[in-house]
Amino acid sequence: MIQTKTYNKEILKTITAGLEQQPKRLPSWLFYDEIGDKIFQAIMRMPTYYLTACEFDIFRNQKDRILNHIMSDEGSFKLVELGAGDGTKTEVLLDHFLKKQTPFTYVPVDVSEAVLAQLATRLSKSLPDLKIHPECKLYNEALEIMKNDTSEKKLILFLGANIGNFSKDEAITFIKKLAVNMNAPDRLLIGFDLKKDPRLIQAAYDDPEGITREFNLNLLGRINREFGGQFDLELFSHYPFYDPETGVTKSFLVSNQEQEVWIDAIEKSIHFDKAEIIHTEVSQKYDLKMINLLSAQSGLEIVDVIYDQKEYFADVVLKLKD
Ligand SMILES: C[S@@+](CC[C@H](N)C(=O)[O-])C[C@H]1O[C@@H](n2cnc3c(N)ncnc32)[C@H](O)[C@@H]1O
Repeated sequence: MIQTKTYNKEILKTITAGLEQQPKRLPSWLFYDEIGDKIFQAIMRMPTYYLTACEFDIFRNQKDRILNHIMSDEGSFKLVELGAGDGTKTEVLLDHFLKKQTPFTYVPVDVSEAVLAQLATRLSKSLPDLKIHPECKLYNEALEIMKNDTSEKKLILFLGANIGNFSKDEAITFIKKLAVNMNAPDRLLIGFDLKKDPRLIQAAYDDPEGITREFNLNLLGRINREFGGQFDLELFSHYPFYDPETGVTKSFLVSNQEQEVWIDAIEKSIHFDKAEIIHTEVSQKYDLKMINLLSAQSGLEIVDVIYDQKEYFADVVLKLKD
């Protein structure tokens, strides 16, 4: 019997469009399949990836300050986390909120089904009293659900510099869309990785052990596994670049030679010139002036700016403008 493989059409459409445009570009959410999730967890443990330690520092030391932004006598709230990943940092807050007997439901949203399953399994053991409703969705789809839900107030978390994966303009568009779904008592907490010594930033995206390289190349590995691609990972290299003038880190995959790469799911080859790139990730770094501008242009007001002890990172609490 001939078996025909079924492909995820939406993901395939995104990949085909990205590889057929000039310059080639794939969105960074494609990094996160089961293997990509595991590599990202290894990145979070790298000493050079300071972002995780900074946000842990904030949550461990400022959890009451964060809770006070949403806690009131008026019943429960929803803790919606966009791009929750494995939620290890968030667990510090969840644990604290439960200890304070605050009634809330945790709604982690992530495009990766594997990471959400891992998160839910871990939390069911470590925090058995937690009410949790995972949603396997893209951010935009999650905004649609929020639009129709006015039953409880919300604390929306957007951590780990996920906002940095948008360009400055895309970030304004996205926050505006989020703001439309917020009511006066709701709060939005966004993690911003701050501008700092360019060498520290560069090292976070280009570690000596090659874990970030493996993460970037896994995108091609994913196309091979899920869509019958024939990428030879040895024929591409990882190139991250931080520009301190704009605060943007960009990651690329560079074709080491001219090549044709066959992909079963689209029944054709994609041509690469020698040194042609695929742009795979943006990571925008911010300063306070940029954060002020972003909130003002998105119709929000800053309520609090919470720094880690090194002031490498800031979790910023926002609300609708009065
Ligand atoms: C850089 S990781 C950060 C995870 C976590 N927020 C943290 O701070 O450790 C980004 C996470 O967001 C998810 N993600 C990225 N883009 C997404 C999108 N457009 N919609 C939904 N989830 C997305 C990924 O699957 C991944 O788990």
